[in-house]
Amino acid sequence: MGKQEIAHILAIPFPLQGHINPMVQLCKRLISKGIHVTLLTTASISTTLQIPTGINPINIETVPDSNVKEIEHLDVYEIFIQNFRASITCGISETIQKHRKNLKAILYDSLIPWTLDIAHEQGLKGAVLFTQPCTVSSVFYHLHKGTLEISNDDQDFEVSLPGMPVLRVKDLPSLAVDSTSNPPILRLLVDQFSTFEKADWRLFNTFNKIEHEILKWMENQCPILSIGPTIPSMYIDKRIQDNYDYGLSLFKPSSESCMTWLDAKEDHSVVYISFGSLAKLGEKQMEEVARGLIDSQCNFLWVIRDHKESDLFQALTSSPTKQGLIVNWCTQLEVLSHRAIGCFVTHCGWNSTLEALSLGVPMVAMPQWTDQTTNAKLIADVWRIGIRVRIDENGIASREEIAACVKDVMEGDEIRRNAIQLKNLAIESVSEGGSSDMNVTNFVVQVIST
Ligand code: UDX
Repeated sequence: MGKQEIAHILAIPFPLQGHINPMVQLCKRLISKGIHVTLLTTASISTTLQIPTGINPINIETVPDSNVKEIEHLDVYEIFIQNFRASITCGISETIQKHRKNLKAILYDSLIPWTLDIAHEQGLKGAVLFTQPCTVSSVFYHLHKGTLEISNDDQDFEVSLPGMPVLRVKDLPSLAVDSTSNPPILRLLVDQFSTFEKADWRLFNTFNKIEHEILKWMENQCPILSIGPTIPSMYIDKRIQDNYDYGLSLFKPSSESCMTWLDAKEDHSVVYISFGSLAKLGEKQMEEVARGLIDSQCNFLWVIRDHKESDLFQALTSSPTKQGLIVNWCTQLEVLSHRAIGCFVTHCGWNSTLEALSLGVPMVAMPQWTDQTTNAKLIADVWRIGIRVRIDENGIASREEIAACVKDVMEGDEIRRNAIQLKNLAIESVSEGGSSDMNVTNFVVQVIST
């Protein structure tokens, strides 16, 4: 291939924040190793993307769609997914033809396995990216293969699968336990494996040192490459100052300057709270979190996406001591890497988990649904870099419980030491010559020689 002819990959993320971020970061890695990347999404999704102000190295292209861009209720997921599939299937040929000359492969999210057939029909290779931990993906692998049956009647039911910690009902992915709660999403998760063996590459956003056993097991089923954590390089190597290195956000960060507020706080004195881009806490749980924070007497920065003023929140944020700052959205990586952050009260989305882990921030785990329950198990019991809140019979974590967990994590030396250890392992894996870095390099070499 001549100098001007750089191998080209077409990347298609699943159009949710927790899936766009790892895909975008992986694309940047590929670009840094000499591949050209075009990211394909629908027109309506692209209008909500907050493109960073610096140089954006990824070429973004769109296909027309029927304008379903926001998921307000989980029951519209099915329509959202069907529309996304129809739009991509209809519009992708034009993009492929446009870049035909050097296009080698399609890199697609595991939630859209049908993309592989498109790639193969068009004479391209297909690389699938799994954006959840291998432990969670393996549960869905077993469900797909019919080698796992879960009984949700018995709370003492335990699952013991090869390469995994023993998982109790509360540790299993929530949708796998309650198959009736959202059948379309469960189907989506199980179907991730429908074209698994046929894919030309299988990439996982995780790294060897944190999921060694299960990665080994999965490798024995089919060759895989762990390429994570997909954290922007500027957070791994402070000398790198790429201002394009943030993700592509679907939400606009609040105008309130979190950074100025954090700058005025002491080291490790602030609790950062976020439940990601999808989960919504009920009113009762919100109140318990708020009261727990007051009782912990710690400063806090809380992301509430649809925040409405209430007397309680007024009291929290306008006291003379300004104990808390509430924002609608922030640049989470920038916040987590601030010296003032002492712990992260998190819903345990896999990106949030990997981000906190890579930045050495200990966690209070408050999982809400899907993979988060299993991620919380890994955080609290396997890696011991956080504490999981206990919930009562009504599914509520009380203010006392939250305040106690926050205090234990903020003051816990062992948890902090473990968090620093894992941070170093994460950095090692993505630094030059580390296991994930070598896997990305191998992938690039293979794509170029296709
Ligand atoms: C969802 C699921 O909940 C998660 O469990 C799954 O693994 C991926 O899809 P989400 O709930 O959004 O994702 O959580 P998470 O995976 O943590 O992703 C959220 C992303 O948004 C993170 O990369 C985080 O940095 C970013 N974020 C969040 C911001 O940039 N600003 C914020 O204020 C909050």
